[in-house]
Amino acid sequence: MDSHTKESSLQRTFSIVKPDAVRKGHTGGILAMIEAAGFRIAAIKKLSISKPQAAGFYAVHAARPFFESLTTFMSSGPIYVMVLEKENAIADLRKLMGATNPANAEEGTIRKKFAGSIEENSIHGSDAEETAKFEIGYFFAGYELE
Ligand code: CMP
Repeated sequence: MDSHTKESSLQRTFSIVKPDAVRKGHTGGILAMIEAAGFRIAAIKKLSISKPQAAGFYAVHAARPFFESLTTFMSSGPIYVMVLEKENAIADLRKLMGATNPANAEEGTIRKKFAGSIEENSIHGSDAEETAKFEIGYFFAGYELE
């Protein structure tokens, strides 16, 4: 495989270090695990989002019983939003994150190490290519991506 072909197989995913992890000082630990797993941080920024902004991001979950609580939580403090790049980034990040409920997360995963509950589960990662595209576009303008 030549270098051009190799480069074209890189995939991007979108991730959030959630308010629980930022509050507890786990941002550095989470970023270290992400980099150690071979991801390149293509873009990152710290921000706080409003409840309507959280609702827009999680619109796909609007009918779920936990939606109200989730959007309150996601707007409760600063977060880090980022674009991560590697081969097979979407699936590999979800593997590294571990199960949504940290009680079911495997040893060596981010949620096993840092997450406190199914809602306050420290990290978000896109679940598919289409979702990644929407989520990156929700938080980043083209000029912010290198
Ligand atoms: P995330 O991967 O960001 O996608 C949706 C989020 O909703 C999820 O992580 C959790 O933070 C939250 N969530 C999912 N299921 C539940 C649930 N059963 N109860 C509360 N929160 C949930």
